[in-house]
Amino acid sequence: NLYAILMAGGVGSRFWPVSTSDFPKQFHDMLGTGETLIQKTFARLSQLIPKENILILTNEGYKDLVLQQLPQVNEQQLVLEPAMRNTAPCILYATLKIKKMNPNALMVVAPSDHWIEDEVQFINNLRHAFEFCEFNDSLMTLGIIPTFPNTGYGYIEYDKLDTRPIKKVKRFREKPDYATAKEFINSRNFLWNAGIFVWSAKAIEKAFVDFQPKMHQLFMQGYESYNTPAETTFIAENYEKAENISIDYAVMESAKNVYVLPATFDWNDLGTWGSLYDKLDKDSNQNAVVNANLFIENGSNNIIRTNPGKKVVIDGLDDFIVVDKDDVLLIYPKKKEQDIKQIVQKVNACK
Ligand code: GDD
Ligand code: MG
Repeated sequence: NLYAILMAGGVGSRFWPVSTSDFPKQFHDMLGTGETLIQKTFARLSQLIPKENILILTNEGYKDLVLQQLPQVNEQQLVLEPAMRNTAPCILYATLKIKKMNPNALMVVAPSDHWIEDEVQFINNLRHAFEFCEFNDSLMTLGIIPTFPNTGYGYIEYDKLDTRPIKKVKRFREKPDYATAKEFINSRNFLWNAGIFVWSAKAIEKAFVDFQPKMHQLFMQGYESYNTPAETTFIAENYEKAENISIDYAVMESAKNVYVLPATFDWNDLGTWGSLYDKLDKDSNQNAVVNANLFIENGSNNIIRTNPGKKVVIDGLDDFIVVDKDDVLLIYPKKKEQDIKQIVQKVNACK
């Protein structure tokens, strides 16, 4: 009964210029381990989920990249989106396909771009979450103990007095502003949403019916065609009509049956240059240097990545992102790393 949907259609724009819409971060070996992020994620999930039950959700444009990097998957496992509509539409679409195969399916929804080292704990947590969701009509998310007011995450509020290993969520707030995030951190009964969800196909479908009825109707119109050759035509004609919205805003913020399992593994969402910096080896000045030959290092806490072998000289530079890739050079303060997303749009607009 176990299925996974691996979301691999994001652009990873905060990792520009390495991650681009032609070649997003999940298809890069960001950590220098010899495996790309999507390969690592697939391997991690297949320790618990039968390989043929892992669906890869991605944009049509990334089909070849997925098949190259995951030669073990067959084309039926690819759920291809003709338009970028964020995570809610693709999760609903994949859920309906899975429900048609197996109405009692339990599924994990996993991003393709996370760093998780302790795979034993990861699998333990997933097992625990599946056991709970098998008998409860609940939407489960894995929670991470927050360390700073990161505005790029979802925040999960639970009852301080709730000592159960799986806690009922009082409120789910996606990407709060800095002041609110700070308040959340200080009140000590908030967790970060890891973006890894566990639920039954029935429970998540019901949540879409309740909170995204239009989207549910849209995708139900194609239900008969799913998992048959007629599906492609339906999706080509209708997918782009779906609202562009993430699962967090579309469902998690409104649902009343959200539960959280605090994760017992170390986690990093590798969402920004700063989060990658945290995971890389550093030199004596706390600079993380990838590919570059760094000369005068009067400067600290920088992440510096170039094409292989480039000589880099810095003096008086602290807490910066320096990335040199082909025709782009980015020099940007680490503390403003969230803004890179908007910068990329501006830069692409004046191409
Ligand atoms: N198939 C598909 N289609 N996948 C997508 C799409 C899409 O249109 N858009 C994004 N994804 C994939 C990304 O590749 C990534 O693996 C995952 O969905 C999450 O998208 P992000 O864009 O990385 O979301 P986020 O990091 O801003 O926020 C989410 O993750 C945080 C933790 O990393 C939210 O769930 C937050 O609440 C959470 O804290
Ligand atoms: Mg992310």
